[in-house]
Amino acid sequence: MPSGGVFTTGQMAEIARRRLPRAIFDFVEGGAGSEIALARNRARFEEIALLPQALRDCAAATSQVTLFGRRYAAPFGVAPMGFADLIRPGTDRALARAAKERNIPYVLSTAATTSIEAIRDIAQDNLWFQLYPGSDEAMASALIVRALRAGVTTLVVTVDIPVPAKRVRDLANGLAIPLRPSLRTILDVARHPAWLARALSGPRLGMANFVENKGALSGLKHAEFVSRQLSCAALDWPRIERIRAAWPHHMVIKGILNPADARTAARLGADGIVVSNHGGRQLDAAPAPIEALPAIRDACGDALTLILDSGVRTGDDIARSLARGADFVLLGRPFLFAVAALGPAEGPSAVIDILRDELVNTLVHLGCPDPGALDGGFLWPPRTHATVAPAGREEDR
Ligand SMILES: Cc1cc2nc3c(=O)[nH]c(=O)nc-3n(C[C@H](O)[C@H](O)[C@H](O)COP(=O)(O)O)c2cc1C
Repeated sequence: MPSGGVFTTGQMAEIARRRLPRAIFDFVEGGAGSEIALARNRARFEEIALLPQALRDCAAATSQVTLFGRRYAAPFGVAPMGFADLIRPGTDRALARAAKERNIPYVLSTAATTSIEAIRDIAQDNLWFQLYPGSDEAMASALIVRALRAGVTTLVVTVDIPVPAKRVRDLANGLAIPLRPSLRTILDVARHPAWLARALSGPRLGMANFVENKGALSGLKHAEFVSRQLSCAALDWPRIERIRAAWPHHMVIKGILNPADARTAARLGADGIVVSNHGGRQLDAAPAPIEALPAIRDACGDALTLILDSGVRTGDDIARSLARGADFVLLGRPFLFAVAALGPAEGPSAVIDILRDELVNTLVHLGCPDPGALDGGFLWPPRTHATVAPAGREEDR
């Protein structure tokens, strides 16, 4: 357990709110539109009750699971997050280090400001790489080759940003592209001298995974270029098939909520999907992944590994996700807030320890010593998975 009276990811978020300039906190915490999806992600988790079982010997309860043939210390990992070093320089590296030390996966974003190679040296075989296929296929292919050379074994292909989202907080703070910070934002940054001093003394932020493409561009021009490249309304399933053909290891498609899409992903050879609404940061009218999950599990059976993200904050949430049909979960914001609240050395490992301890505590209450054994029978009211695909919306694309 971490010192300093911080016992939950929620407490870390509150400390981060005070420590970070408002525009940076908002960039991390904010969602799209009216932030309905953001609120819904939490509300749907909180509605789910788990049914305890008494007097089952759980003295040997563990948080460990096997995913893609590899043993991890817990059924959760660090979600890909671009521009994480806005929290403070070295954030990507700190998250990668904690993931390696604690043995959970760390997913490096295409939009990270640290290179695949630098993170590989830290995270080693705990490194997964997230790819935005984007509009420029040659650029995506070059990233795939780099990830392969770096020894990445799991590629996460994000498909839920066909267009940039409308993030109202960022627009109001002037934290959009092109960058035009409002006077309020500038004054607020000046009121956070520790953050400012670190930002000014750290390396200039740029898109480290695109250096050879746009090496001469300044950090901001870089971000503008990359953001144009990353969202692509013309993306389609044939692109996924070509990525599948180019990638010889595990491939996971991130940003699926529709059971028909899940089935198509399985048919085209994906090993897994991330059931995600991008943490409420894209389509504000989207369902919460935790509510979309059972229909997806019913639709694809055991054909896909199901990873869930968006709104996971506690060990109970992890157990809820597994009981609803997930094999694994990712968390995003809590890891960034941990770095802001407790610093890069202590924060990320504290989140991992807190969540692992909470999960084991929940498992023992449920009389279920193995997280891999959680299923709908642990929900209240209990839910049994359908054994056949539901009728309607059957046809794959
Ligand atoms: C600051 C920030 C940056 C993100 N950048 C990316 C990204 O580059 N690629 C990606 O696939 N998802 C990105 N996401 C979404 C996360 O991977 C993940 O889906 C989401 O944060 C999960 O929700 P949670 O933050 O409620 O845990 C980002 C999220 C945040 C908060």
